[in-house]
Amino acid sequence: MAEVKVIGVVGGGQMGSGIAQVAAVAGFEVFLHDSDAGALLRASNSISNSIQRLIAKGLLSQSVGTDSLRRLRCTSNLEELQPADVIIEAIVESEDIKKKLFSELDRIAKASAILASNTSSISITRLASATSRASQVIGMHFMNPPPIMKLLEIVRGAETSDEVFTTIKALAERLGKTVICSQDYPGFIVNRILMPMINEAFFALYTGVAAKEDIDTGMKLGTNHPMGPLELADFIGLDVCLSIMKVLHTGLGDSKYIPCPLLVQYVDAGRLGRKSGIGVYSYHKQPEMPRL
Ligand code: NAI
Repeated sequence: MAEVKVIGVVGGGQMGSGIAQVAAVAGFEVFLHDSDAGALLRASNSISNSIQRLIAKGLLSQSVGTDSLRRLRCTSNLEELQPADVIIEAIVESEDIKKKLFSELDRIAKASAILASNTSSISITRLASATSRASQVIGMHFMNPPPIMKLLEIVRGAETSDEVFTTIKALAERLGKTVICSQDYPGFIVNRILMPMINEAFFALYTGVAAKEDIDTGMKLGTNHPMGPLELADFIGLDVCLSIMKVLHTGLGDSKYIPCPLLVQYVDAGRLGRKSGIGVYSYHKQPEMPRL
């Protein structure tokens, strides 16, 4: 398989912008696409701020930072991803919307291109079925935030070829990641274990077992987790957590995966976590008290 030089990223939200940054810093030409012009602008600003912070902290040289930003092109036109050797999808966690995108990418991308999804839980095999190149479709599940988190979970669909797996593993290592490999079953490895824990924390809150702070402190100090499960849910996005629980419930058919009604209600109310300013916790700044 030809060497990977150009990477396309679709979706410029929390994950896509981080993935585009990691790829640009690692020396790849990157095209970042989002269908929402506002999101694309936010992604471009957040990548340059993040790179400036890394330079200021001495974690990145000025020249690598400047070159990375030069290698990154943001575009609202999906067709511009045509030269990409690998396209990584990081759009909203909806199977229907992702399938539609994969079918469009199949039409736009060059015949040799690999189509990867950053999905947290949707079947790679089913996404691949929306294309005419199932052997070239694979999961690249980055952790949040991609520039910081070392792990990359590679998910092999039923048809993913050995050659494509080897290419993506080598790419992940060039991106500085440690790779684990999962077969294509709901939730893969990390979310299969993490999301039921987060859902159980919601049940503990919902049934009045304890206050949110006590649940989080219990898991931080009692089990040595760096973040409590409710804080982590706010960080991931409650909508993302809910959709993963639905996938586990439907895909594995076990009632132990039923989403907690409180998680459902928060999402219905638009309490999506840090990204919407409120989730389990509120992230709105308190107005300053007037000085006397
Ligand atoms: P987000 O909501 O921050 O960003 C999604 C972006 O996709 C938005 O900017 C939106 O405008 C764009 N978008 C939606 N439909 C599109 C389309 N058809 N074409 C182009 N752009 C489109 O979501 P986030 O958190 O970045 O998640 C993205 C993916 O990454 C999801 O599949 C999620 O499950 C997965 N993921 C999320 C993690 C997290 O901690 N948030 C961790 C690992 C994976």
